[in-house]
Amino acid sequence: MTPADALRTLRARRRNYSLAQPFYHSAEAYKLDLANIFYRDWIFAGHDCEIANPGDYFTFSIGDYAIIVNRDEAGRVRAHHNSCRHRGYKLCDAAKGNVKRRFVCPYHQWSYDLDGNLARTRGMGDDFDASKFGLKPVHAESVGGWIFVCVADTAPDFAAFRATIEPYFAPYDLTNAKVAFEYRIVEKGNWKLVMENNRECYHCSGSHPELCRVFPEAPVATAGPVAGDDSDTGHIADFVAHWEAKGLPGQFKIADNNQYRIMRMPFLGEARSMTMSGEPAVTKRLGRAPATENCGDVLLYHYPSTWNHVTADHALSFRCLPLSATETELTTKWLVPKDAVEGRDYDLQTLTEVWKATNAQDMALVERNAEGIRSPAYEPGPYSPIHETGVIQFVDWYCGSLVERLGGRTKKLQAAE
Ligand code: FES
Ligand SMILES: [Fe+2]
Repeated sequence: MTPADALRTLRARRRNYSLAQPFYHSAEAYKLDLANIFYRDWIFAGHDCEIANPGDYFTFSIGDYAIIVNRDEAGRVRAHHNSCRHRGYKLCDAAKGNVKRRFVCPYHQWSYDLDGNLARTRGMGDDFDASKFGLKPVHAESVGGWIFVCVADTAPDFAAFRATIEPYFAPYDLTNAKVAFEYRIVEKGNWKLVMENNRECYHCSGSHPELCRVFPEAPVATAGPVAGDDSDTGHIADFVAHWEAKGLPGQFKIADNNQYRIMRMPFLGEARSMTMSGEPAVTKRLGRAPATENCGDVLLYHYPSTWNHVTADHALSFRCLPLSATETELTTKWLVPKDAVEGRDYDLQTLTEVWKATNAQDMALVERNAEGIRSPAYEPGPYSPIHETGVIQFVDWYCGSLVERLGGRTKKLQAAE
């Protein structure tokens, strides 16, 4: 599928229907997704608390871009391409660590300070200008304890997203949390199938017995208020108003282009957390989250790479990154208050069992969905206007972004011809 084919297919697509087959399977569409989405947008990387001290770093990759995210001497979050400026050796191989004051390339020992400047080399001659060979920077921003990076030369605006979500996250003081547990799975399905599956709870009652103990399958939870949804929105409005009055924001907010959204949702019944019992998994609270009153779940989505839950006792982040047209890496992290002690204040089984089970169930759904779509008989099918409004939001954002970016490029090519 050429860019022109993709543009034509997207422009002709039937709204509120799933995408044409190549968008879920073809290597060409995957390349378009990398070039026009993952290499252009802000991508969720990890957490401030994972690099609390100068010299702390973690690494990850967005498509072919290997990236180092670290904290510098001044305490700022930095990101650089993980490629030595001598002959391109991958500078850091570990997933995380601390380099004290310098990154040293293991190949020929060029060393870089925590801001990426080339600090020391050997035998490069008198006229070698080290200032021209610093690590290439990657845009990095941190909001509420969540770090995003962008590998584009010019990053999209981050300020509106920051202004929207900061008030929701700030009360939980998530920079002073710690990752209690994390794990990575690789799902055999296109990243958009992973995201679509997450963006609806139409499938929840049939697939997620653990999650459904505490989390509402009502469309409002995945999409915000939905016309025609007969779930108890009055109850939700009262709940949100109660917490807004106490300084914990909760209103549903969505970006103009659908790229991100946030809201506070009550759990089902008396549940207070995402555990099998509905009771908190951790005896301590995040930030100034209330000790006993039930402040529900703050849900944040940011396309193309993350969805998140923040409760009074723990938070969950999900980072979704494509590995190929048909493979997606999902990294899940559980954050708890920094001073919570495993075995005393929480146990990992209670903390992680609901979402470990839910992730496994979702992986099976995504993989079987991918298998079904591979059939030549597949054709796009209609989304539910009530239960899959969140999927429609996501697909509209994806198609709108791709059409705008491919269209812009096509115009430039035409102008250059
Ligand atoms: S490639 Fe890094 S020092 Fe040579
Ligand atoms: Fe699910």
